[in-house]
Amino acid sequence: MTIFAQNLDQYLKEHTSPEIASTVMTLADSSIAIRDLLNKGVLAGIHGEAGGQNIQGETQKKLDVISNDLLLNALTQNSNCAAVASEELDDISPANQDGTLLVTFDPLDGSSNIDINMTVGTIFSILPYHHQGQVATETDFLQAGKHQLASGYFIYGTSTMLALTFGAGVSMFSLDPASRQYVLINERITISQQTAEYAINASNRRYWLAPLAQYIEELAQGDTGVRNKDYNMRWVAAMIADVHRILVRGGVFMYPFDTKIAGKAGKLRLMYEANPMSFIIEQAGGASTDGVQRIMDIEPTGIHQRIPVVLGAKQEVEYIKSLHDQAGILANGEKI
Ligand code: F6P
Repeated sequence: MTIFAQNLDQYLKEHTSPEIASTVMTLADSSIAIRDLLNKGVLAGIHGEAGGQNIQGETQKKLDVISNDLLLNALTQNSNCAAVASEELDDISPANQDGTLLVTFDPLDGSSNIDINMTVGTIFSILPYHHQGQVATETDFLQAGKHQLASGYFIYGTSTMLALTFGAGVSMFSLDPASRQYVLINERITISQQTAEYAINASNRRYWLAPLAQYIEELAQGDTGVRNKDYNMRWVAAMIADVHRILVRGGVFMYPFDTKIAGKAGKLRLMYEANPMSFIIEQAGGASTDGVQRIMDIEPTGIHQRIPVVLGAKQEVEYIKSLHDQAGILANGEKI
């Protein structure tokens, strides 16, 4: 692989506006502070639970809280940010009225992985702010994903990486621990249209809708079934890691609608996970739906809205969509 010796700040100057560049640098600096804490691990006293629960009713980890505070403080001090919304906080945080940008983030995706020393990450999305001079409200954030100006994630794995899009392809950076700079390693990430690998929490099988159950059954039959080839399954239980694997070597990721928790449309969050990851996946040549419609076309109804997610290899995503169409059902199982 060709290594470009270009640092993130230089890349940003050439590829986006000064406002977005500054916001991405704020996110990048915070990610390095989070990486430092992750590296110290148990010794930094950040393992275990903080005791509270987030809006989704999940127990917060200590590092969830610390990462959230780090990002929130840094972004609200950036004059370009009109407001910030975090997966961990009930309400949005208005920042600078003259700012032109809104930022949503999931400070530590896959946080149940922290205590077992496995991959976690920070996901972010940048949206335009249209009401300069006024205090931003939650309604300002409720824009379909297609309006995102930028999105990306920092993955804290065996090395730390950043995947970033402004709507003109996806670039990947790797953190150089010596210089503490993100260095460009690939400026044209592409996902293969087909795959032999899929990611799903198969323990939810009995709660899936018929089209999804049929799809997974076809894959599981491998070369003895209609697919005529064997498939491999991987599930890290951190969306960030599963999506990163798909960017690097292809695949399809699913957290579909299931009937396990009544009243919830899916597990993943539209504004913090589904939209930013969909932007990245589409920009790498993949596709992303809730099973029926393009995720980035969905008009959000709430900042913490959940959504079924099917993304990755275009051909597979389109096939899953066709199974839903044939069954004549919506992504939540309702009849059309
Ligand atoms: O958003 C939460 C999350 O941790 C995702 O990152 C991940 O894909 C999913 O939940 C894992 O869910 P499960 O615990 O059902 O495997």
